[in-house]
Amino acid sequence: MREYDLVVIGAGPGGYEAALEAAGVYGMKTALIEKEALGGTCLNHGCIPTKTLLHSAELFHQMKECSVFGLDAEGVSFDMERIQNRKAEVVDTLRSGIAAMMKQKKVEVISGSGRILDSHSVEVQGEEKRILDTEYILIATGSRAFVPPIPGAGLKHVVTSDELLEKRDGLYGHLVIIGGGVIGMEFASVYRAFGSEVTVIEALPKIISNMDRELSQSLKMLMKKRGVGIITGASVTEIREEGEGLVCEYREKDQTSAVSCDGVLICVGRRPFTEGLFGPDVSVEMDRGRIVTDENGCTSMPGVYAAGDVCGGIMLAHAATAMGRNAVAHMYACMKPEDAQRVSERRIADHVIPGCIYTDPEIASVGLTPEQAKTQGIDAASRKIVMSANGKTVLTGGERGFIKVVYEKQTEKILGAVMMCARASDLIGEFADAVVNGLTLSDMGRVVRPHPSFSEGITEVCRQGGL
Ligand code: NAI
Repeated sequence: MREYDLVVIGAGPGGYEAALEAAGVYGMKTALIEKEALGGTCLNHGCIPTKTLLHSAELFHQMKECSVFGLDAEGVSFDMERIQNRKAEVVDTLRSGIAAMMKQKKVEVISGSGRILDSHSVEVQGEEKRILDTEYILIATGSRAFVPPIPGAGLKHVVTSDELLEKRDGLYGHLVIIGGGVIGMEFASVYRAFGSEVTVIEALPKIISNMDRELSQSLKMLMKKRGVGIITGASVTEIREEGEGLVCEYREKDQTSAVSCDGVLICVGRRPFTEGLFGPDVSVEMDRGRIVTDENGCTSMPGVYAAGDVCGGIMLAHAATAMGRNAVAHMYACMKPEDAQRVSERRIADHVIPGCIYTDPEIASVGLTPEQAKTQGIDAASRKIVMSANGKTVLTGGERGFIKVVYEKQTEKILGAVMMCARASDLIGEFADAVVNGLTLSDMGRVVRPHPSFSEGITEVCRQGGL
């Protein structure tokens, strides 16, 4: 008998959800090690704080534009200190919720840094040093922001999203954002809504380049309409101080240009975090910094699993949770082969991961884009509706949005969807369901959805076209 069935290292959405599932669903004796706060990047420095700021930014923007709804609001202003206090309250509430769930499911939370000594031993360096004896280990240590070696990247007011999320003393008047990916576009949305000048510099020819082309074009148009400067195909070569502010120099084709600002956000991707994780003579197979795993989350070291950002690939909270839960299910099935069939029925379809960008309006996608279907040799087609005739969109004064569904021509099976509209992050779940469960356009189109609602757009796009 070992002290624990499972020791999880890292309490982000990959680790803490896996620990809860292990203890709550499978009755495994579980310990969860965390060196900072429960909730990981998502809760403490990522999704939740960003979305809380976005919510304040959107309300502020709506209040300023409220005359179209027959309302008057004078002297609308914001106070960053109070917005930050509310953000801290939201994070605290959710963190306490996680702590309560750990207690309820009898997961032992241990504060400190975990280091793997061998397949069954984890050393914790906390207030005191402990060695935990365990059957299985799950690594869920996440990622951290990557800062490229641009001269001037270490200057004051050149920050990553971690620091920008904590800024209490007002906003930068002009923020230059290096990287037009997910983080870049969400911060562009927040800063612009609060009235700052924003310039995004993206190295590739388009922003949010891994998403559907039409989404990228639509977002660029919308952001430009709101006054966000977007420079694509340009690489920042240097950041330097000039007077009270900063100058960001960039190269676009053969030309060098510069933009003055008072703050620079660097968001050019994140890298898996494994620092200090392995004891002497311990290693697992890695590929360019990421831990290599199979479809069950097994690493090259027997009994040691990994889930989430530390494995590279799709670095999203819900992807990490799915991977962590599947890893735990696999461990349990190894411990109790007689339950393997029932466990495999619970397996999460972690090959279909929706992605969302919480701009205003929201952007969401799942499954294949038309270009990806073509590359995979699938005979696919797509249909699109614009949301401008959708009742809920009109009555809420929504921006012009759209829903596009991608399907296999012959069977009309849904392969993917992309959308840019209010509540896209909620609506995309319907298409994730369709892709995972092999639903067709008719399956989706014969469902009655409430009126008025944004979800009517789904019925409309699926019923479009003749017999
Ligand atoms: P990202 O990979 O989404 O975008 C980085 C962008 O920076 C890319 O478009 C890239 O071409 C560009 N870039 C790279 N080097 C550059 C340079 N030197 N100059 C100009 N542009 C350059 O990474 P991001 O936005 O930092 O996000 C990190 C991770 O966090 C992603 O995996 C993302 O999915 C995740 N995340 C997800 C959120 C969500 O689901 N809503 C929110 C925030 C983060």
